[in-house]
Amino acid sequence: MLMLNKTAGVFSKPSKKKIYEFLRSFTFHPEKLFLHKLVLGIETSCDDTAAAVVDETGNVLGEAIHSQTEVHLKTGGIIPPVAQRLHRENIQRIVQEALATSRVSPSELSAIATTVKPGLALSLGVGLSFSLQLVDQLKKPFIPIHHMEAHALTIRLTNKVEFPFLVLLISGGHCLLALVQGVSDFLLLGKSLDIAPGDMLDKVARRLSLIKHPECSTMSGGKAIEHLAKQGNTLPLDFKAPMQRAKNCDFSFSGLQNIVGSIIMQKEKEEGIEKGQILASAADIAATIQHTTACHIVKRTHRAILFCKQKALLPQTDAVLVVSGGVASNLYIRKALEIVTNATQCTLLCPPPRLCTDNGIMVAWNGIERLRAGLGILYDTEGIRYEPKCPLGIDISKEVGEAAIKVPHLKIMI
Ligand code: KG4
Ligand code: ZN
Repeated sequence: MLMLNKTAGVFSKPSKKKIYEFLRSFTFHPEKLFLHKLVLGIETSCDDTAAAVVDETGNVLGEAIHSQTEVHLKTGGIIPPVAQRLHRENIQRIVQEALATSRVSPSELSAIATTVKPGLALSLGVGLSFSLQLVDQLKKPFIPIHHMEAHALTIRLTNKVEFPFLVLLISGGHCLLALVQGVSDFLLLGKSLDIAPGDMLDKVARRLSLIKHPECSTMSGGKAIEHLAKQGNTLPLDFKAPMQRAKNCDFSFSGLQNIVGSIIMQKEKEEGIEKGQILASAADIAATIQHTTACHIVKRTHRAILFCKQKALLPQTDAVLVVSGGVASNLYIRKALEIVTNATQCTLLCPPPRLCTDNGIMVAWNGIERLRAGLGILYDTEGIRYEPKCPLGIDISKEVGEAAIKVPHLKIMI
């Protein structure tokens, strides 16, 4: 091998050391060649231990998830210390699995992103302390993630969606409508004043003892309600949807839960069965609660679209409504929302179901979005804490209520 000797200007036989240096300069380091950003995302805000490695272009290089659903179904709800124990038992394995399948060595990571707010304190704590140890070991930057921001931005990994867009997040722990103007620029238009729709559906499913139903025993409450609703017919109710008089974008689901509770009691009397047994009318009750939930969600979302258009916060045509969170995997609710987006010349987009529920991919992607925007990247994690409660963005729900927009009636026939 001959190399140009710069000082002498002639070709000379290089030393062994020079050859090694020369060869080493060609060792394959993709992140150096393409300046690729690679983020490890870690999610433990509720009952799923999840991790993923995602690159700058949205390629999911590796992922792993451990779901606690089965355990919590048996105990009739999430018991926080149990969730914490299961996160502790699984986090190392899940992160290792995500890294191993991605074939990315930890040293190649650009940053580690972890959900630190909002969520169950004991669950968030496991993800945060594990991540801080890793950050310290690997000497990598840390990106603290807001769980709802991650849900909201997931659509930009799967679809080409520009800011601004409207997002409806409906899950077991959350229910909100927000305008997404940038990676970390949100206007909160409305939220649930009590419980989230998934929580309400889970409670109704428990009251109906659907875990004993042969077709629903392994399903989450919301999924079981959707499944049974297909076999039933809606029952006449005294009211159409909650909060009819409040002309804002807030939600309420606990009244609905109480009303359905009294219907169940009445049906148990009529059918002569004990609490804890499956009602013959369970499918009708499921259809009724699903329809009423859909009508309520649709009405508030319709008002949010009209408000944003009135204030020129969204374009008049081709505005985008993104729906995510566990309840967004409900096809009946999606179809009901499609009726609104068709009536308002908007496009309805939903991430695939596995990205609607909690996952590590959305956290890693949020990390990529923040890296690209240069937002919230920490090189010193001193004093970083998890926050069980944390609002998303600037709350303009009062202004939305003051606008008192009347929503035209839409027939929800699915
Ligand atoms: O987003 P997620 O996995 O966790 C959080 O709550 O953050 O959502 C779980 C919730 C549960 O309440 C579950 O019953 C509900 O989503 N869910 C559904 C469906 N699948 C899951 N609700 C209605 N229809 C479904 N198909
Ligand atoms: Zn979630």
